[in-house]
Amino acid sequence: MSDTPLLQVRNLHKHYRNNRSLFSRELTQALAPISFELNAGETLAFVGEAGSGRTSLAQVLSGAKKRSGGQIFINGEELQSQDSQQRAKNIRMIFQDSSTSLNPRLRIGEQLEMPLKFNTSLDKAQRLAEVDRALLQVGLLREHAHFYPSMLASGQRQRVAIARALMLNPKILISDEAFGNLDTTLRAQCLNLLLQLQRQLGLSYIFMSHNLNLVRHISDRVMVMRKGVVVEQGDTEQVFNDPQHEYTKLLLSQQVIPQRNN
Ligand SMILES: Nc1ncnc2c1ncn2[C@@H]1O[C@H](COP(=O)(O)OP(=O)(O)OP(=O)(O)O)[C@@H](O)[C@H]1O
Ligand SMILES: [Mg+2]
Repeated sequence: MSDTPLLQVRNLHKHYRNNRSLFSRELTQALAPISFELNAGETLAFVGEAGSGRTSLAQVLSGAKKRSGGQIFINGEELQSQDSQQRAKNIRMIFQDSSTSLNPRLRIGEQLEMPLKFNTSLDKAQRLAEVDRALLQVGLLREHAHFYPSMLASGQRQRVAIARALMLNPKILISDEAFGNLDTTLRAQCLNLLLQLQRQLGLSYIFMSHNLNLVRHISDRVMVMRKGVVVEQGDTEQVFNDPQHEYTKLLLSQQVIPQRNN
């Protein structure tokens, strides 16, 4: 069925039990039940202030944390909570701050090979060929497979993080403030790389970001979150040009002021 969206999220939610006491029943609702769809080749952004639930959403979508409830469908097929292989082949995170998410003691090639070892039946030669391909795809060289993370510049490490996310040919990449630590030039280079990969591979992106300029530049649709609740959603240009909710207007006005002072 061609009209089935790539990703369908239905009433997905997440709460945390507060650890104040062992018997505490107090729950923090990090993400109220949320429903949305994402099509192939599309970019959806989630914006909001600190604590709006973006990281929680990224974690339950990528399987890093268990969802408290709700359903996730890929091409109409339900993604089970426990099925990490099926998930890894469909949805991958681009890790924030590659300087800490990469293992300093492993060569880049070994780190890129890891998801293939765990999730595919490819033999060594096939895995190395995939590593080569991914390095070239993100604008690095084959030789970089032999480097340790500390031998690379921060922009190159971020490219490795993108390459690692691409290893299993996923359909959806999630970035949770992945480029927040890079300077403006390197961030622009990484974003352009993502746009180029999107065109080449038909990838879909989910962007968690507080940087509204970035969101406006890169996303097709945007969802505005406040304390785990979506208060407004729509086409990015429409939401930016004609925000309906007071909270969206506030976010947009806050973002403009520091820029004028720069
Ligand atoms: N492990 C946890 N245990 C308890 N509460 C948590 C946990 N992680 C997040 N929370 C709470 O859930 C809510 C949403 O947090 P989350 O990190 O998802 O928001 P965010 O939009 O990513 O914020 P940030 O701007 O800090 O990245 C917050 O109130 C937060 O305090
Ligand atoms: Mg966060």
